[in-house]
Amino acid sequence: MQSNEIRERFLKFFEARGHRIIPSASLVPENDPSVLFNTAGMQPLVPYLLGQEHPMGKRIVDIQKCVRTGDLDDIGDNRHFSFFEMMGNWSLGDYFKEDTIKWSYEFLTSKEEGLGLDVNRLYVTIFEGDENAPYDQESKDIWMSLGIAENRIYALPAEDNWWSPGDNGPCGPCSEMFYDMSGNVGDLPKEGFVEAVRAEDVIEIWNDVFMEYEKKDGRVIGKLAQKNVDTGAGLERITAVMQNKKTAYDTDLLSDVMNLIKVNAKNYVEKLARVVVDHIRTASFLISDGVIPSNKDQGYVLRRLIRRAVFKMSVLEVDIRISERIIDIFVDKYFSSYNNLNGEFIKSIFNDEENKFSKTIQEGKKEFEKGIDPFILATTYGFPIELTLELAKEKGQTIDLEDFNKKMKEHQELSRTSSAGMFKGGLANHNEKTIRLHTAHHLLLAALKQVVSPDIKQRGSNITEERLRLDFMCDHKLTDEEKKKVEDLVNEKIQAGLDVVRREMPLAEAEKIGAEMEFGTKYPETVSVYFIGEDPSTGSGRAFSAEFCGGPHVENTKDLGHFKIQKEEAVAAGIRRIKAVLK
Ligand code: ALA
Repeated sequence: MQSNEIRERFLKFFEARGHRIIPSASLVPENDPSVLFNTAGMQPLVPYLLGQEHPMGKRIVDIQKCVRTGDLDDIGDNRHFSFFEMMGNWSLGDYFKEDTIKWSYEFLTSKEEGLGLDVNRLYVTIFEGDENAPYDQESKDIWMSLGIAENRIYALPAEDNWWSPGDNGPCGPCSEMFYDMSGNVGDLPKEGFVEAVRAEDVIEIWNDVFMEYEKKDGRVIGKLAQKNVDTGAGLERITAVMQNKKTAYDTDLLSDVMNLIKVNAKNYVEKLARVVVDHIRTASFLISDGVIPSNKDQGYVLRRLIRRAVFKMSVLEVDIRISERIIDIFVDKYFSSYNNLNGEFIKSIFNDEENKFSKTIQEGKKEFEKGIDPFILATTYGFPIELTLELAKEKGQTIDLEDFNKKMKEHQELSRTSSAGMFKGGLANHNEKTIRLHTAHHLLLAALKQVVSPDIKQRGSNITEERLRLDFMCDHKLTDEEKKKVEDLVNEKIQAGLDVVRREMPLAEAEKIGAEMEFGTKYPETVSVYFIGEDPSTGSGRAFSAEFCGGPHVENTKDLGHFKIQKEEAVAAGIRRIKAVLK
């Protein structure tokens, strides 16, 4: 049975029993700022569960789009989806347990009107009772009257069989239905049943909630004015059962897209493909419900979903353009049920976000391969830590998340002190002349080390608008030839038009690469290092200059003009001083 037929049968079954069909509400709740998305069929109906009169009456049936993004790491297994459709029938102060359970049973087992499932493969659970509500004997009796054997009915605690949308709102005990996927499971004691569910030999397919209670701040505070019924059957799961598949990825809902990825991926990994399929479907529905990628709220979730999908696609090595074909397939597949899906619009939003992120990814992956610290990847390349973690996971590497978090914290502190004007590299002020001299100062130190001695160390510096001054440890007066060579080398680097790049990194790492530090200065655990003459996206070759420094600097050495040493003299034993200018 195809998914479209399941939807249709569900709606018709309840329509024939006095229910009015209502369309799915938007994924974005209209009047409820407490949640980003509708996460269950009941959410858009909360006012009516609390007593407001519904314009369509007391019996309603619908298929509600839902988005749950609480734990994206679960996506890719057999059962979790960030988007799903929940089929539900509703009693708003009308029928209660008797009809609800009877109709659930009928829909599941009737060949003519329902799904025609094998009654011998069904199991059900009921609420075992606690201080809020008693053992649900009534539901148990009803199930038994329908022919469910007593040893297939399990009483479970509130953790499993009390449903509420959160800490506040309508809630109540529930009775859930489970199906034996293989047909070989048979009778099970309670522990065996719990284990079979965990192992996915038996899966939950429907939940009947008897909503007659209300929660406030996490506590059940009493009964509602009316007894309601909220049921939820996940279309994905029911479809998997009907098509005898372990997962909805292999059903008509998603298999076309799965196959498209499979035949196009150079590095096919089932779980990654599933994540791509899941996320692009969710993104398509979110965009169609008016969400645009951004840095907050719904937009941020959408951004994450798109970026995660794009990232996984890069790992799968599928052409990024395939996302357009995936979106087309989804629109085709779902349009008859959700006619606000607009392929062209979805693609334009998706592509826009994809472009923004592709650039970040390409750079970040290259750097990751080079073994760059996750902290640097995040701060310098904008490469999200979660993606670093995933890359590492795929390679069987571990990332020290605690270390990362610590560095991030220090980084934030450093950024604050830096912007408060502390690490200003000894600059009196920041006008253009001094900035240029500051960069020339770095070039000079590097040139001295190359021409005169690698052991040369800076001992002090001072920059005015007119000149730079560099004090350094050196055991001899520079010869004219050395001075000429140093000048020439600096001018050569200026003319080469080298990029000046700032990176923030852990102190230990900066020390390891031999970045110049000021003698006797104590540095924080995270430091800012300026590189001249190295393209950080390729990392090819060593930088001509690498110095601990808070900046500021010019972006490229070509802006410096002509470098000239004016004076070279002794200031103390073993310490020389150079004054130089830019013309
Ligand atoms: N509201 C119930 C659920 O989401 C039906 O499981």
